[in-house]
Amino acid sequence: MRLEGKVAIVTGANSGIGMAIAQRFAAEGAHVAVNYLPGGTREADTLKELAAFPTEGMPAPADISKRADVEAMVQAVVQKYGRLDIAVNNAGVEIKKPFLEITDEDWNFVLGVNLNGSFLLAQTAARQMVKQGGGKIINISSVHEDVPFPAYAPYCTSKGGVRMMMRNMALELAPYNINVNNIAPGAIATPINQAVLNDPAAKAAAVGEIPWGRFGKPEEVAAVALFLASDDASYVTGSTYCVDGGLVQQVTRY
Ligand code: BGC
Repeated sequence: MRLEGKVAIVTGANSGIGMAIAQRFAAEGAHVAVNYLPGGTREADTLKELAAFPTEGMPAPADISKRADVEAMVQAVVQKYGRLDIAVNNAGVEIKKPFLEITDEDWNFVLGVNLNGSFLLAQTAARQMVKQGGGKIINISSVHEDVPFPAYAPYCTSKGGVRMMMRNMALELAPYNINVNNIAPGAIATPINQAVLNDPAAKAAAVGEIPWGRFGKPEEVAAVALFLASDDASYVTGSTYCVDGGLVQQVTRY
């Protein structure tokens, strides 16, 4: 058990990478607050999956793009478990649209969840961790924190922002024993990629770009999150770990 007695929040844990991380953390002994946007389609399934965790966890419905929601969520976790050791900024959204057609609403929605949401939880969690003498903050970013992606400007911008926020936090929070790192997944088989996975030609084109020759599994991202959340990562801060089957090498080869 690598997270025995630890308390974690995972945002967007109602599906995909977030749920895999929540399940892995629970399997390693952590109490996990499972965050999701209230009223979403997977709410009932999420609560069922949470009830099957080997450790007691808690539902943490909140709109992470709103400070009041995030602060109330962290307060509820600290009230229940007395502490917060690990915060995982996983919730993310993307809109596919050519740059010339992006509206203010598109831009603000994607930046609001991916960048502002990550900031709000990171800051709120860090304030609690300072009181406790340390903690771990992990952002699930993307290979697109560094690499542009046609028709995904708001998404790539948000992830680039998360990368710089992470590096700045690593600097400023080192004196408080708070490790801050990113994971940059490539193409992972999750609901966000369902349209591509359902279209054989699009899937073959995507797989063709991946040196490893396949999509990743959410569990393969969770394994790296576990490392970064554990004491094994005690001297690791300010880094991005790509979990992408080599994709970033391929798309940056020129
Ligand atoms: C995006 C996916 C994309 C992958 C690789 C991820 O960040 O969410 O839609 O397939 O990057 O380009």
